Amino acid sequence: MEVDVYERVWMWAATALIALFLGAILLTAGAQAIQPPSHIETLDPTTIPTHPEFGKPAIARRPDGGLVVPVVATMFAFNPDPIELPANVPVTFRLTSADVIHGFVIVGTNANAMAMPGYVTEFTITFSRAGEYPIACHEYCGLMHHMMVGKLVVK
Ligand code: CUA
Repeated sequence: MEVDVYERVWMWAATALIALFLGAILLTAGAQAIQPPSHIETLDPTTIPTHPEFGKPAIARRPDGGLVVPVVATMFAFNPDPIELPANVPVTFRLTSADVIHGFVIVGTNANAMAMPGYVTEFTITFSRAGEYPIACHEYCGLMHHMMVGKLVVK
């Protein structure tokens, strides 16, 4: 089969790009262990109402001065709500869901995670600016998904 020289150049260029992208994915996943911003910690979602941490989620202070905020997402609210936190203190959010997959994005920050039933999602962030931040669910979770909004107040 006769293939035009320009056609051949573009074929090889496209093949090289695909190899480059695949290589970058494999390298970062394997060598740098890039993973979702969490760890594998499980919990039985049916135990949430009586759970020591998530039953009545309350902000706790760690010995190093940082704060821990347990959050339970359920159709169609976050608990606690509102969340009040000081600025310039490292805050570790611990999220879980009592029913379906929910999202948890603190608008205007790079805090963005999923709340999954059966798992605890954890990430740490420090808020440098005081103010009010909406918290939105960004995973479609049911008919009232668009109403699932919480509030964070940083003082
Ligand atoms: Cu919860 Cu969408």
